[in-house]
This record gives sequence, C-alpha cells and structure tokens, in this order.
Amino acid sequence: MSESPDKYFVVGNPIAHSRSPDIHTLFAQQTQQQLEYKAQEIPINNFSSGIKQLKQLGAKGFNVTVPFKGEAFELCTSLSERAALTGSVNTISITEEAYIGDTTDGRGLINDLQSNHNIDLKAKAVLILGAGGAVAGVLPDFFVQHVTSIHIANRTVSKAEALSQRFSELGEIQFSSMDDIPSNAFDVIINATSASLSNTALNLPATCINASSIAYDMVYAAKPTPFLQWAKNQGAALSIDGLGMLVEQAAVSFEIWRGVKPETQIVIQALRDKLLAS
Ligand code: ATR
Repeated sequence: MSESPDKYFVVGNPIAHSRSPDIHTLFAQQTQQQLEYKAQEIPINNFSSGIKQLKQLGAKGFNVTVPFKGEAFELCTSLSERAALTGSVNTISITEEAYIGDTTDGRGLINDLQSNHNIDLKAKAVLILGAGGAVAGVLPDFFVQHVTSIHIANRTVSKAEALSQRFSELGEIQFSSMDDIPSNAFDVIINATSASLSNTALNLPATCINASSIAYDMVYAAKPTPFLQWAKNQGAALSIDGLGMLVEQAAVSFEIWRGVKPETQIVIQALRDKLLAS
C-alpha cells in the first residue's frame, strides 16, 4: 500500500485568492514529489491553535501570509539567519519537536531579477518605494548582492528612517519621503508599497527614472499596475511585475522542504496564461 502524501498548507486570512496551491502542485508534479498542498484559512486570533491542529493532521510545513507573518515569527522555535534578521517568516518546516522558520521573499525577488530577467544588482543604485513588512523582508538580500546604494522612500518618512536604522549594520540606507527622492536617476526602482493593490498611482518625480532604469512592482495583475504604467510612460528600459517573485519565493520554500529545486519559468508562464485568461 502506498503511503499518504506529505501535507503542506498556505495559511492566511483571507486565503481563497492564493496561487500557492497551484504553484506547489505544479512543482510537485514536475519533480515527482508525493505531496499535497492546500490553502487553509485560519481565524484571526487563532493562529497558534490553528497551526497546531494542522500539525496534528500531519502537516510537514506551512507558508504563511497576511495577517500572520508576525505570529509565525513568534511561534517558531528556531529561525534561519534571514528570518531572525528581517523579523519575518513565510516558510515553516515542522519536525516532531520544532517549528523552523525561514523567509524566502528576498531570495524570490533576487532570483526573479537574475534568472528570469538577467539583471545583476551588483553596483546598482536601488530605490525602494515603501517601508512596510514587504521591504523589511527583502532588504538583507540586496546587501548580499553588493548594490552600490539603497534609498528607501516612503509616504510616512519615519518608517523609512526606522528601517534604515534597523538594518544599519548591513550597510548604509538613505531615506526620504516620496516627495524628496533625490533627483538622480536610479538603476532599479522597486515598488513595495501596497498602492498597486488598490490600483493607486504614486506621485513620483520623473527625475528618479531614465531610459536605462528597471522598474519592478512586487504586485502582479493582468494589466500593468499604475506604477509600471508610469515607468513605461517615462521610457524605462524594463518594467516587471511580481508574478515571477511569487513563483521564485515558492520555489525556495519548496527546496527548503523537499531538497529539490523546481523549474520556475514554465510555472510562471502557466500562471501568466491563467491570469491573462481570467
Ligand atoms: P506590507 O506588509 O505589504 O509591506 P504594510 O506593512 O502595511 O504592508 O506597508 C504598506 C506600505 O505601502 C507602506 O510603506 C505604506 O506607506 P505608509 O507607511 O506611509 O503607510 C505604503 N502605501 C500604501 N498605500 C500607499 C499609497 N496610496 N501611497 C503611498 N504609499 C502607500
């Protein structure tokens, strides 16, 4: 008799919109891993008991999304260096006695830029828009790539300042409000605000972008986000949405759990086709 497949879940609230089950199911088929990956909504305020119940059902690992990333961090009994540094956990591996937390968003973003778009961040001047959890989760990975400079611009400047101080041991981070972005053009501009989720444009100075700039939005949609539309209108060299990052961060989680690295481009294409058909 064959053993039942290992179980994994993405947990959040709400969670019905998650593409993670599609992505991990495609990874499992492609790498011939016997596993089942489902989306599971957990009631707000019930994170730790929800997770324990899933563990009792035999769960081997979780991806964690909004609004539980902070609670996931608290629940973990051990953390990867990245998770400890960023204060965020999106991937939990379960053993008999431990919850081991890691964060894969930063590697997902860098892998998308490098492997799928051939963009090396070394010696690049990077502008990051936003100063929330999404930015904290990816910042250390930029330093690993030896960028020339990082500037964080945020609507609420105090949050950008707080991130700059929090990560000061990794290197210098400049910061400003959105209105006071330095007037030199940046090589790479990353929109990590949640403005695209509400289809809202950011009011950015045209001087921060030029014909060799690359614009990246962590959000993806069937149509270019207002930020990517703005970048195209300014004549940016490339504008990229976050679908590749979504698949690449999932691939890093999959490798942590299963020890195999899945092919990502074919999965990105499958998701893109589905998105455009919807
Ligand atoms: P996440 O976990 O996705 O980073 P978050 O921590 O709530 O979510 O952060 C959202 C980010 O988007 C913040 O940087 C927020 O700016 P404020 O710190 O000023 O709130 C930014 N943001 C959201 N909507 C925005 C808008 N319409 N214009 C500019 N920035 C916006």
